Amino acid sequence: MSSPTYREDRQPHPRERRMIFRNVDRTDYDPSIDCYLRDGGYELLKKALGMEPKDITEEVKKSGLRGRGGAGFPTGVKWGFIPPNNTKPVYLICNADESEPGTFKDRYIIHQDPHQLLEGIAISSFAVGAKVAFIYIREEFPEGAEILERAIAEAEEKGFLGKDIQGSGFDLEVVVHRGAGAYICGEETGLIESLEGKRPYPRIKPPYFPAALGLYMCPTIVNNVESLCHVKHVLAMGAEEYAKLGTPRNTGTRILCVSGDVVKPGYFEVEVGKVTMGEVIHDLCGGLKPGRKLKAVIPGGSSAKVLSADERFKIKRGDDPVEIGIEDIPMDFDTMAACGSMAGSGGVIIMDDSRDMAWVLNNINEFYAHESCGQCTPCREGSLWMKKISARIVKGDGAPEDVDTLLSVADQIEGKTICAFGEACSWPTQSFVKKFGDEIKARTSGENASRPVNKETELAAAGLAR
Ligand SMILES: Cc1cc2nc3c(=O)[nH]c(=O)nc-3n(C[C@H](O)[C@H](O)[C@H](O)COP(=O)(O)O)c2cc1C
Ligand code: SF4
Repeated sequence: MSSPTYREDRQPHPRERRMIFRNVDRTDYDPSIDCYLRDGGYELLKKALGMEPKDITEEVKKSGLRGRGGAGFPTGVKWGFIPPNNTKPVYLICNADESEPGTFKDRYIIHQDPHQLLEGIAISSFAVGAKVAFIYIREEFPEGAEILERAIAEAEEKGFLGKDIQGSGFDLEVVVHRGAGAYICGEETGLIESLEGKRPYPRIKPPYFPAALGLYMCPTIVNNVESLCHVKHVLAMGAEEYAKLGTPRNTGTRILCVSGDVVKPGYFEVEVGKVTMGEVIHDLCGGLKPGRKLKAVIPGGSSAKVLSADERFKIKRGDDPVEIGIEDIPMDFDTMAACGSMAGSGGVIIMDDSRDMAWVLNNINEFYAHESCGQCTPCREGSLWMKKISARIVKGDGAPEDVDTLLSVADQIEGKTICAFGEACSWPTQSFVKKFGDEIKARTSGENASRPVNKETELAAAGLAR
């Protein structure tokens, strides 16, 4: 395997551990199968085809790999949920919807290293017994869809996909399916409905857990692009070695997508939990903009609860309880949950003290009101109410009691809907009101009401922004 050279302006940061993104931004690499094969591509598929499928699932379980699409659910455990006496076809779906605001990683894998994804899909399909796999890609990624279609044709031609792969007797057809571009199509059961040609109305769980009752009511494994890419590396390293990357229960690497008020936003592949929030901001991203102070961070895509720079968080280090500030939070699933938020899809949004939190919340509320599928009343009506209330606060037309109403609406959505979109749209409001309620209230009365705090707010007040 050649040692990679990277674009001058896209050198990986020394703190990075590039595994999934090893081939992203290389000057000596392109998405063709020849390039992938030159770098040792599809060798792990050959290895997998010589293994028992259940042993691959066992390796993935032992590796501790957790899904990178949002919930952080253990991948091997999910695969194990396929009913043991199943006689129906099994499907594998690669979730390439990448719809969570703040997240921009899957598209780079698809554009620059599609065969890594296809190899991951082929190994995973073999492990779970799927003969047909779908890549559900959002309409906004037309180039990605074409790249994948080309890569599938190349892999079929070389015998890595299609009939009797490498003489093993295993058949796999991979189909690229383009969605029409809706956030809810990223939710696995909405995605499945959409793939069946229907409106993407999420299904209620239970009973419709995809591993038991998924596509066409058959067992279906839905995994994120990044999760599926990890499978090949688990086999390459062996579960035990893989599990040494990262931290216990939070193994491997993950790609953080950092946006917002930092000098150098971008993507960074790091060992899970081995860097802190402060290191992400100051080390990986070159710090905050000159003269600014950290105000808040949304750590896992826009639906994750906001963390305030003034908060103290009670976590455990080993068995010992400790109290830490925002910059000391290790970037892993469990610590982020202990801090009252989530690592989610890895989209880290940094906000400095120039940000008007009423504007930020309204921006998020606009997104969720637009994207609710409308199937359940609390989400359909509530997301719209939250948007209307936060919009009038931003315009300077709000009343102080609006802030309490906002919270009450959010509280009546959470836990009362068919899918987790209910939480995704209520958590921002709940956390912004809890942590920045005074600031938002100050925008509803007195001289602050009509005094926008930053440029975006000025534009919104003048009706020039969305
Ligand atoms: C509203 C909503 C949107 C979601 N969007 C995505 C998405 O764009 N991509 C994704 O991989 N998972 C998304 N998910 C999570 C999926 O439902 C599912 O859990 C995930 O694809 C499973 O893959 P993983 O176990 O590999 O993480 C979303 C979930 C919700 C509730
Ligand atoms: S919670 Fe919202 S997005 Fe999910 S099913 Fe209900 S209305 Fe649709």
